[in-house]
Amino acid sequence: MCGIVGAVAINNVVPILLEGLQRLEYRGYDSAGLVVSHEGLQRLRTTGRVLELQKLAETQQVHGYAGIAHTRWATHGAPSERNAHPHFSGSKEQNSRIAVVHNGIIENYESMRERLQNEGYWFVSDTDTEAIAHLVASNLKKIPDLLEAVCASIAELRGAFAIAVMEETRPDKIVVARNGAPLLLGLGASGNYAASDVSALLKATKNMIYLEDGDVAELTNIGYRIVNCQQGEAVHQVERTVHETQLSSEAIELGPYAHYMQKEIFEQPSAVANTLEMVLNAQSISPNLFGSEAENIFAQTRSILILACGTSYHAGLVARYWLETVAGLPCNVEIASEYRYRDPIADAGTLVVSISQSGETADTLAAMNYAKQLGHPYSLAICNVAESALIRQADLRFLTRAGPEIGVASTKAFTTQLASLLLLTATLAKMRQKLSTETELRIIADLRHLPVAIQHALQVEPQVKAWAKSFAQKRHALFLGRGVHYPIAMEGALKLKEISYIHAEAYAAGELKHGPLALVDSEMPVVAIAPNDQLLGKLKSNLQEVHARGGELYVFADADAQITPGENLHVIRLLEHGGLLSPILHTIPLQLLAYHVALERGTDVDKPRNLAKAVTVE
Ligand code: G6P
Repeated sequence: MCGIVGAVAINNVVPILLEGLQRLEYRGYDSAGLVVSHEGLQRLRTTGRVLELQKLAETQQVHGYAGIAHTRWATHGAPSERNAHPHFSGSKEQNSRIAVVHNGIIENYESMRERLQNEGYWFVSDTDTEAIAHLVASNLKKIPDLLEAVCASIAELRGAFAIAVMEETRPDKIVVARNGAPLLLGLGASGNYAASDVSALLKATKNMIYLEDGDVAELTNIGYRIVNCQQGEAVHQVERTVHETQLSSEAIELGPYAHYMQKEIFEQPSAVANTLEMVLNAQSISPNLFGSEAENIFAQTRSILILACGTSYHAGLVARYWLETVAGLPCNVEIASEYRYRDPIADAGTLVVSISQSGETADTLAAMNYAKQLGHPYSLAICNVAESALIRQADLRFLTRAGPEIGVASTKAFTTQLASLLLLTATLAKMRQKLSTETELRIIADLRHLPVAIQHALQVEPQVKAWAKSFAQKRHALFLGRGVHYPIAMEGALKLKEISYIHAEAYAAGELKHGPLALVDSEMPVVAIAPNDQLLGKLKSNLQEVHARGGELYVFADADAQITPGENLHVIRLLEHGGLLSPILHTIPLQLLAYHVALERGTDVDKPRNLAKAVTVE
């Protein structure tokens, strides 16, 4: 993962580098560092957060007109100052250093390191990045132009990466390169910039160029040039379109909230309303919502294969129930990192649906491409980032309009994914003549009501907060659900472990007696998702099994579910009965539970340890 920023401007670039890093901290926060050119290359690094780096920059009064910066999620080498980027090659005495920041993984770094060591380069870190610095330095001996030397270097590197490079002897420019990891340029009135994502540059400019794989760009304060150096092809200058981003810097401000996660939980009514905007005023559902080719592709669709990771995978698991029940379509849901290394049997009638908040998750992208290679002709991406690789690579696309999600634990991306998947289900059902006009109108009405229903679900917060106090003392928790609510139990458990570090497991409630019941005692809270559906009777029996063994039950029930609170049986009722939308509504209290338990435990809610938001490495 990691986030990188670069800037060359007519004024001091340190503030824009730091602002950029702060916006990119969601990509990793094991250490932070920057290099600016001012009478040679000045480097600052810290194992603290970007705030720490900012303090260092202030006390040391570091400034310069060109610089590169980095926030790290450690892959090669422990999080330490020695391993923090930027990495150097060359000697300070001769003022001949190369500085590099890097996001991604260099797969052939061991052989590269050995080769460069044999050439006499001395490694001082455990990172794969340092090999890039030495490689560029080595190529610069033969090719004096930095852009061309970077081109030659990336041709020798294997893996997915984005890099930014500076040369001590040329303080007026930076060179960046993209190969499989996100990177864009920002073109401003006072300078030119590069970053891993748009949010990092919004304070400087709205004009962005999304680089393509193999692109290498040289930036100065008055201009830029881009060449493409895909392996095996001649290096040639390329033109890339300049896009004006619609994202506003307010959308990424914290505002009155204590944490981004809190903000994003409470933004869900508007996030869902924005996502469904095109449907909310319509009287019928149309395949065109998924792209102009959708009608043709959906007409050929005989089954669905969903590929995703993490929370997005849980959204896919929910969709399977909907697709089977409402659209009568067979559906497989696969963890992307597993799928890409199996030998599944392709079926030309299967539509591949990739779900991703970021659209940059390496495993999801690779799995989607693998599915295509295997012989699945069509893909649909459901994604929250318009300019992402996933959106660009898919045949059909549906954008969740949740707005930027910054908290590492996904919340509004999940519920907007679910709303989109319900819409997809209804569209496919309609095309397969499985949807009566009456049901279609009911689903549209339900979706129209969804923002209000979520608002109602949020009202249980005070009760959830009260539960969080005792919950925070526990070391383990079990989450139970049945049917379409089993993936919601999985999502609830994931949220709790991600941000509160309480070990949590989800089970299909019917599986309880096949093992996990052995864990139940007074120290093991059991959370149950208990909507009033056809499985409620069976779920209640499962709850009795817990109760009889002294377990403490925390039940989230529908307004009309007949579950009476009692000793060791706590019940929170949602204000509505959700119907088809029930999995979306039951997600809300689980997000609130994780959030408040994490607050009680004093963890770093938005930046849980060891995690990062966009997982751009395998
Ligand atoms: C990381 C994030 C999760 C997210 C998962 C998949 O693990 O922390 O919140 O669900 O990646 O990310 P994607 O962007 O593909 O949805």
